[in-house]
Amino acid sequence: MKKNCWQKLNRPILALAPMAGITDSSFRLLCKKFGADIVYTEMVSAAGLCYGGQKTLSYLKFNKKEQPVILQLFGSKPEQFAKAAQIVEQAGFTGIDINFGCPAKKVVQNESGATLMNNLDKAYKIIEATCNATSLPVSIKMRNSKGTTTAYDFVNKVKDLPIAAIMIHGRSFEQGFSGDASWDQIKKVRKIYKGILLANGGIYSPQAARQVISKLDIDGLGLAQGVQGRPWLFKEIKDLLKKETWSLSRDRVSSYDWPKIKKIILEHAKLTMKGKNNLIEMRKHLLWYVKNQPNAKELRQKLVKVETISDLKLILKNS
Ligand SMILES: Cc1cc2nc3c(=O)[nH]c(=O)nc-3n(C[C@H](O)[C@H](O)[C@H](O)COP(=O)(O)O)c2cc1C
Repeated sequence: MKKNCWQKLNRPILALAPMAGITDSSFRLLCKKFGADIVYTEMVSAAGLCYGGQKTLSYLKFNKKEQPVILQLFGSKPEQFAKAAQIVEQAGFTGIDINFGCPAKKVVQNESGATLMNNLDKAYKIIEATCNATSLPVSIKMRNSKGTTTAYDFVNKVKDLPIAAIMIHGRSFEQGFSGDASWDQIKKVRKIYKGILLANGGIYSPQAARQVISKLDIDGLGLAQGVQGRPWLFKEIKDLLKKETWSLSRDRVSSYDWPKIKKIILEHAKLTMKGKNNLIEMRKHLLWYVKNQPNAKELRQKLVKVETISDLKLILKNS
């Protein structure tokens, strides 16, 4: 019998969706602090884990306070998923997710990610091999469609497997990462899949979150670009969900002003420095944090050069 951490979470579940280069341990921890119920790592190569490459193995590190953490795998070979699943289980993760939605060229060319939406027999074998190799709950993430294959076709094919949770990115492969998400596939999938179902795509405000939760029969949401430079969105959504009444205009104002944001930036930087020697990888986050500030342009010019906490403190002090 599989353990299933998903079933124990309160609804609606707010998940930090996987983002390559972004959902590292420090960002996951920060999102957890702001109310994320479950967090995903960025996608990790199943083949890379099997070969034991140092960079790939570094993705296995996490802080216990991040739990529950789901490690997301991508790849194309069922036997590699089976081996990788055992490695992930040994590393102490709470669950394993499989990526069927990534459109990046190097992933797609390798018959991984979204390409597998057009090879349902292979996708089936990958999920089956992973489920058989581990006692961890196995979840999957896909897009609304790729070409003529829909999320419904996909789930219909694999629905007899013990899949713990499904996150559907409501955009097609062809849409990439922008444009409106559509929820038609989520509605259809709900009819044939009774497990945990999460909607993802274009949920960038507490109001949008509340609207999606109220109109769909889902267990929760996956948040990605909406939390870039705004990890507190998790808290804002939870606060809005607690209100009995709400209005689009009145509840739009965020209480996260610049002094508060500066504190969060420093906290994020300190967490980053626990695993890294410098803040270079954090620079993209810094640029997102200042996005709506009146002096954003000037700040950005300085932040792209940040390497140490003292560089950062100096810039923030003078802002
Ligand atoms: C920079 C970036 C990296 C991403 N990396 C991954 C990934 O590693 N695995 C995955 O399944 N999805 C990945 N995604 C997709 C997101 O998880 C999410 O499905 C997508 O961004 C739609 O949600 P959003 O509109 O809230 O951003 C990535 C998205 C972005 C913007």
